[in-house]
Amino acid sequence: MKTLRVLTGITTSGTPHLGNYVGAIRPTVRASRLAHVDSYYFLADYHALIKVGEPARVQRSTLEIAATWLACGLDPEQVTFYRQSDIPEIPELTWLLTCVTGKGLLNRAHAYKASVDKNNAAGLEPDDGVTAGLFMYPVLMAADILMFNAHKVPVGRDQVQHIEMARDMAASFNHLYGEHFTLPEAEIEAHVATLPGLDGRKMSKSYDNTIPLFAPRDQLRKLIMGIVTDSKAPGEPKETEGSALFQIYQAFASAEETAALAQAYAEGIAWGDAKQRLFERLDQEIAPMRAVYDELISDPTRIERTLRAGAEKARAMSRPFTDRLRHAVGLRALDSAGRDAPAAAKSGKTAAPVFKQYRENDGQFRFKLLDSRGALLLQSTGFASPKDAAQAIARLRHEGTAALADLQPRLEMLGDIAAVASALAHFKEQA
Ligand code: TRP
Repeated sequence: MKTLRVLTGITTSGTPHLGNYVGAIRPTVRASRLAHVDSYYFLADYHALIKVGEPARVQRSTLEIAATWLACGLDPEQVTFYRQSDIPEIPELTWLLTCVTGKGLLNRAHAYKASVDKNNAAGLEPDDGVTAGLFMYPVLMAADILMFNAHKVPVGRDQVQHIEMARDMAASFNHLYGEHFTLPEAEIEAHVATLPGLDGRKMSKSYDNTIPLFAPRDQLRKLIMGIVTDSKAPGEPKETEGSALFQIYQAFASAEETAALAQAYAEGIAWGDAKQRLFERLDQEIAPMRAVYDELISDPTRIERTLRAGAEKARAMSRPFTDRLRHAVGLRALDSAGRDAPAAAKSGKTAAPVFKQYRENDGQFRFKLLDSRGALLLQSTGFASPKDAAQAIARLRHEGTAALADLQPRLEMLGDIAAVASALAHFKEQA
């Protein structure tokens, strides 16, 4: 039985390179073959519109990324592989989530804050050049994830905050309208290699130092010949440490092959020869996939058909789920009975603020205070034991705002003070 639902998206804004392959594509395709996972992979083309203003590039990138994943062995029969913009329920859910998301939460998103900081440093208006699309990005991403009730979301470190925000949105919605969403968790591939690029820095489009995964053979060779090395002459022993060439080789070769290259370095292999060895080793792994890729790219109709089929599979879930969500929020046929009432109303209680205690991936215990609409008011830092977290909660419940001063170093205030005070007063009244 497939129990664990894993979902991830790839923004269609560029051409896949070796770093993407080693860091994301190869491990993900391998993981998708595990019997117990139900995998969702999608081309995040709505996300691409946030950074790319060139329609032809969005289209081309979507084609290239789809062809890449298929050529690298993703099996669309085994997984659900689709294009975000083929699922109209996603932008619809984005709106439903927008309406339960504090603007303050989005103000704190790293990507948005980075833009504001940059503007401030340059003496510009804080929001200069910032689109509402960039600001809303975490909500769109939450809709991607929550639509399919994913448990795990494999992402890079830079995306972890977005998953936490998706959890917050899910919790707010559930609190207000009943338990509809699974709270997703980020899965950070800690052991995955980051590959150095041509100049030795991390391979990244933003450094313009990438090697396209499916560059034609002769171009691949030319690029590899351009990888930086030091100026040691043939015959002089070379250092493997800090050698981009060596690190890239290692990401593709077996342990024995890697040891053999290290030996050759020690024996003073000429850089040209080492590069040739890297080229041969890379091409050995890539050539068979490149052949499939070239074939796929030349037949966009086939990929289009694959994506449409994937969208049908995805929409078999998203359509009925959206019907349920629409009903839950009150977007209903006027003659339909009001089932699916909010959890609070169902139990006969009026909605009230709550403390939620939980354990994070880092093993630390945290809690948060949500107001009666599920909006985040307070967020604690990590406690080593659940007892310590519970004690802090107890103080807040009994002493109210008087406890805030003491606990302040352990709390992040996310709502305004009046809202926090009124929520805490609620607990004191109950005591
Ligand atoms: N924002 C992600 C990135 O740039 C891509 C993405 C969009 C995504 N929606 C997602 C990743 C949902 C995981 C889940 O890398």
